[in-house]
Amino acid sequence: MSRLGILLSGRGSNFEAIADSIEAGRLDAEIAIVISNSPRAKGLERARQRGLRAVCIPSKAMEREAYDRLVVAELREAEVELVCLAGFMRLLSAYFVEEFPQRILNIHPSLLPSFPGLEAQAQALEHGTKYTGCTVHFVDERLDAGPILIQKAVPVLDSDNEESLAARILEQEHVAYTEAIRLVLSGAYRIDGRRVVRTR
Ligand code: GAR
Repeated sequence: MSRLGILLSGRGSNFEAIADSIEAGRLDAEIAIVISNSPRAKGLERARQRGLRAVCIPSKAMEREAYDRLVVAELREAEVELVCLAGFMRLLSAYFVEEFPQRILNIHPSLLPSFPGLEAQAQALEHGTKYTGCTVHFVDERLDAGPILIQKAVPVLDSDNEESLAARILEQEHVAYTEAIRLVLSGAYRIDGRRVVRTR
């Protein structure tokens, strides 16, 4: 069974959706470790409640690569094969990315390449797009930029505020992440330039 490593910084609802998919048999994998850069992350507590190994490695005042070396060491010790960033609010160093080539996924609350970075839902509202959504993509050392695995579109309603839009997107995030992990674990794709193309 494939061993997943989850990295998170906050609430952890995407982590929980992945854990639920595993429990429900929708995903043939196990969560080997959950790592947070923030001691206050709710997701850590949730992971412990589920009986999972949950580790905090505080990133405060640490240089990027030195920090990433600590995280990679934990992931290696836990024998992680696929790293899933689930609301992990840090850029990864080239060192980290090269340690797990095409084995790091991220979820972002917009249809990339629109609205990368912080507050993607507010950016969509401000721009006035009629649709936004979420993206699961491979991670490289650029921000929200690697090849795209799965996207789900979500309408922006006239009545939306940041909260209501974020909630509608989040529902789709929870579905999209499981689909993307399943695709990667199946191996049924190739990467053609920037395109992830299904092979069966
Ligand atoms: C999610 O909306 C995720 O897409 C976003 O943070 C939230 C984490 O929620 N990630 C980013 O913006 C990354 N650039 P969660 O902790 O409940 O999974």
